[in-house]
Amino acid sequence: MLELNISELKLNSPLILASGILGVSYSSMKRLIDAGFGAITTKSIGPVRRKGFKNPSIIEVYNGSFLNSVGLGNPGINSFITEIKEIKKFGFPLIVSVFGDNTDSYIDVASKAEKAGADAIEINISCPHAEVSSIGIDKNLTYSVVKAIKEKISVPLFVKLNPNVTNMDDIALAAQKGGADGVVAINTLAAMKIDINVKRPVLSHGGGGLSGNAIHPIAVKKVYDLYKILKIPIIGCGGVSTYEDAIEFFLAGASAVQIGTALYQGYGIISKINQGLKKYLKENDYNSISEIKGLAHNYKTQEVPDFD
Ligand SMILES: Cc1cc2nc3c(=O)[nH]c(=O)nc-3n(C[C@H](O)[C@H](O)[C@H](O)COP(=O)(O)O)c2cc1C
Repeated sequence: MLELNISELKLNSPLILASGILGVSYSSMKRLIDAGFGAITTKSIGPVRRKGFKNPSIIEVYNGSFLNSVGLGNPGINSFITEIKEIKKFGFPLIVSVFGDNTDSYIDVASKAEKAGADAIEINISCPHAEVSSIGIDKNLTYSVVKAIKEKISVPLFVKLNPNVTNMDDIALAAQKGGADGVVAINTLAAMKIDINVKRPVLSHGGGGLSGNAIHPIAVKKVYDLYKILKIPIIGCGGVSTYEDAIEFFLAGASAVQIGTALYQGYGIISKINQGLKKYLKENDYNSISEIKGLAHNYKTQEVPDFD
C-alpha cells in the first residue's frame, strides 16, 4: 500500500531519511531501513574532508524545532566511497547528497558516488550557512550546474531547494529545465537565536538553519506552490513528525517526504508514521499514496476580495 516509485527509485515506504541528520555509517543507516524508511539520504558529501562549525552548533529553540550550524562537515568523497559500498551491500535505496566548490567538483563528487553504488544523487545547493547556498539563489547557476551534472550521471538527480530566496519557484523551474528528476523542498530556513544575558548569538557561527515543527507550514506552502508549476516529482521536507504532517505534504502535491529533526524522538516514529499513513488511506478508501497526491488543489481557494 505504501510502495511507490520516484523516477527510477523503488521505495517500500514514502518516508526518506533527510540529509545530515544522522551519522554516515552503514550500521546506523541499516537500522533506519529496518525501522521503516523507504530510502536513506546521506549527509552532504563534498570533494574533500571538511570540519563543521564549533559548538554550540545545534540548539532546540522551541519544542521540536532546532537551529543548527553544523555546516557541511563531512569525510570527503574519497573516504566515503568505502562507506557507500558497505551500505549498498544491504541493498536498500541510497540517495547520496553531494556538494562541490564549483561545477567540476560537483560532477566529480556525484560521479564517484554513482560509481560506488548510489541509487540517486541529491545535490545540496541550499545550505543556509555554507557557500553552496549561492548556487541555490541564482536560477542561471542552478540551471547550468544541474545540466552539467545530469549530462555526466545516469542515476536520478534530485535538487534540494533553498527556501531563503525571493522566488523559489524560479529556481525549481531552472532545476527542472536543467534535467532534474525531482526536487526536495525544503532545506532549513536561515535564522538566529540571541542569548539576552551574554548579549550574543547562541550558535558559534552566529546564524544557522531552522528545522522541525516550526517550519512545517512554510514547507507545505512551498510544496503546494511548486506542484502548480512543476512536472517532476516533489519530495516534501520540513517538520514531519506525525503521519498527519506527511499527509499534508501529499495533499499539497509531494510524491514522498523526508524526515530529519523529528528523529530526535527515536526511530519508533518511523513505523508509527507508516502505520498512520496506511490507516488514513484505508479509512478514506484509497489504495496508494499517489491517489491522494495534490488533492488539496481541487479546492478552489478564495480570490483576493475586491475593495468595497
Ligand atoms: C543537524 C542538521 C544537519 C543537516 N545537514 C544537512 C546536510 O548535510 N545537507 C542537506 O542537504 N541538508 C541538511 N540538513 C537539512 C535537513 O536535511 C532538512 O532539509 C531540514 O532539517 C528540514 O527537515 P526537518 O524539519 O525534518 O529536519 C540538516 C539539518 C539538520 C537539523
